[in-house]
Amino acid sequence: MTELTANSKLATQNTTFTQPPHALDTFAPRILNWFDSNGRHDLPWQQHKTDTPNPYIVWLSEVMLQQTQVTTVIPYFARFMSSFPTVQDLANADWDTVAEHWAGLGYYARARNLHKGAKQLVAIIEETGDFPQTVEGWEAIAGVGLSTAGAIVAMGLHGYGVICDGNVKRVMTRWAGIDGDIMKSATTKELWALAERLTPSNDSGHYAQAMMDMGATLCTRRNPQCTLCPVNADCIAHAQGREMDYPVKAKKKPKPSRFSNALLIQNKAGEILWLQRPDSGIWGGLWVLPLQFEQKTQGKTVLTTAQDDDVYESEFTTAEQIINDWLTTHNLTPQSVSDSLLDDAPIKHSLTHFHWYLQPQQLTLSAEQATELTKALQEADINMVWLGGAKAQATLGLPKAMVKVLQVFDSENL
Ligand code: ADE
Repeated sequence: MTELTANSKLATQNTTFTQPPHALDTFAPRILNWFDSNGRHDLPWQQHKTDTPNPYIVWLSEVMLQQTQVTTVIPYFARFMSSFPTVQDLANADWDTVAEHWAGLGYYARARNLHKGAKQLVAIIEETGDFPQTVEGWEAIAGVGLSTAGAIVAMGLHGYGVICDGNVKRVMTRWAGIDGDIMKSATTKELWALAERLTPSNDSGHYAQAMMDMGATLCTRRNPQCTLCPVNADCIAHAQGREMDYPVKAKKKPKPSRFSNALLIQNKAGEILWLQRPDSGIWGGLWVLPLQFEQKTQGKTVLTTAQDDDVYESEFTTAEQIINDWLTTHNLTPQSVSDSLLDDAPIKHSLTHFHWYLQPQQLTLSAEQATELTKALQEADINMVWLGGAKAQATLGLPKAMVKVLQVFDSENL
């Protein structure tokens, strides 16, 4: 059993709270009472009620749920558990199999961290005989932040762990009327201190699950159902009718747009050229079509700004440079698969720094050309394969954007 230690870095001692002690003390009991009759109790990863909680299940599900909704995660989680029932199975799987299981869930760095984390966990289990038992121990695992570590200790070990993810922050900023920008470190500190103050020492797993449900089902971002809320009597935002003003978050600058051609280079057998992306950067380790970077122009004026171009250009791989040079040398120009261009391009993919529009283009090579290009790529040690679209989808880990490119290509080629 885990020792009763709070998450690291937290300090409740010197914080003054906007809510009076009585409200703070009764917050958790009211939430838990609501959860018992109104919460979700049938999610496949829930371990708060089991006698022998499984931290592997909680770790896996929490990583999947970091940026993805419950309904999307459920079938992926089931497939992972069926193929990799233990952390050892996941650690021993090859990367391509893990990527194929993750394909479509997005934010692929999470899948890489999961695979790396499984190997780290197996090493720890071999050394100590068990999973890490503390928040600090879990935080050292790839892809596990402070809140995820708190959730794993609370729900997966029945120890004491504090969570403070986006949902919890929304509930707390409304209830306590916290006006600071939640992206600022001073506000983060205040929120963690409040989360720690509110978390009951003997039931933190139950409470973590209850707060997640509060945020996901009652105190939602757009449509809070205050009349059903167990803490509405002393909710500051509700008293002021200002629920929608919380959480306070500075407006972001609109993202710039970038444009690329996604090249469907085919050989005489109709197979398509696929490249494995480098481990770091977008779609790290996944199989994608070669991309050709374009500047959006209107007449001769380049419309994109230079801002963030470094990020964009750093995504241009060695393999793509080889292909680009090879196409130029051979005077070959791929043709657009659909008529829509640039910001009407059929595929839009949003990244942290920019929106990425993809325009599928097609080119068929002669047998000699295909051999020559293959040789040029192999000489540079590029991981590549010629594979038909359906087969690629079934056997390689393709990001969702590539599946969309194949769909556009197929629909235009009927
Ligand atoms: N979001 C993050 N963790 C979750 C969990 N354990 N259950 C439901 N939604 C979640």
